[in-house]
Amino acid sequence: MIQKIGVIGAGQMGSGIAHVCALNGFDVSLMDVNPEALKKARDVIRHNLERQASKGKISEADVAVALGRIQTSTEYRSFADCDLVIEAATENEDVKREIFRNLVPNLKEDALIATNTSSISITRLAATTDRPERFIGMHFMNPVPVMQLVEIIRGIATNEETYVAVRDLAHKLGKTSAVAEDFPAFIVNRILLPMINEAIYTLYEGVGSVEAIDTAMKLGANHPMGPLELADFIGLDTCLSIMNVLYDGLADSKYRPCPLLVKYVEAGWLGRKVGRGFYDYSKETPVPTR
Ligand code: CAA
Repeated sequence: MIQKIGVIGAGQMGSGIAHVCALNGFDVSLMDVNPEALKKARDVIRHNLERQASKGKISEADVAVALGRIQTSTEYRSFADCDLVIEAATENEDVKREIFRNLVPNLKEDALIATNTSSISITRLAATTDRPERFIGMHFMNPVPVMQLVEIIRGIATNEETYVAVRDLAHKLGKTSAVAEDFPAFIVNRILLPMINEAIYTLYEGVGSVEAIDTAMKLGANHPMGPLELADFIGLDTCLSIMNVLYDGLADSKYRPCPLLVKYVEAGWLGRKVGRGFYDYSKETPVPTR
């Protein structure tokens, strides 16, 4: 039975996962090597819980209780009593491998490992651990407290008990799960990222401005955010990593990342998290940069 959950990485996904787990009654150990990131994560979680309380979705007491369930640490040994650890670090295979190498000696023998990777092979990541049969993909969507879906991806070795435990957990977190096979970028990002990449080509080729492209897709296809606004929200570095995983993994030129996306990432214009991407976020209202 899963009672205590570890989360690795205190970025936007890790914070959101810790938030949802704590709010639904689980003890959480949130770990990041950077103490500043942990401090920021606690502020973000508090802010988002308060936002839910102000909308009447949860009570003020729930906010305090949920925050009280989250411990933070810079040490892997904080996971010693966790039943499941969810890795939500940056979307880089070398970084994730190094994390699993450090994680495994600190786990209970029967603990499960899940990765929130948005594109990397679960089978390959599982093979870097001592427990590929208890390793699974659990892919949350951003913002985690709002989005209904959790994609669940079994690696070739994942056993049925692990799948059932993680599927039931997603349900207890108030989410709906969809099962995807272990192919590059799974379901959501296999479909979403080529659309975003095509929107960037549309900008690159001068077919439309940032504003025209986002307005067209919001009002013309009823998307809650335009594709460029969404790219900034996901993070342009993450978008590029996912396109590269599709391009390399499926060996099809239709997945080649748009050169403009590469250039923005090289410039450090990574989207909302750094204050600039396809929009400039330094003012109250985001301003298109092209
Ligand atoms: N925590 C808690 N609540 C939040 C929140 C957060 N982080 N962010 C927004 N909310 C709540 C708001 O309080 C609001 O609540 P009510 O409905 O009760 O009023 C609700 O969510 C809507 O928010 P807003 O009114 O502020 O703004 P909005 O209506 O523009 O919605 C949005 C914001 C939910 C983000 C919406 O724009 C949206 O759905 N965008 C698309 C998101 C999306 O596609 N996500 C998937 C990205 S892909 C991914 O994650 C996979 C990957 O691997 C890359």
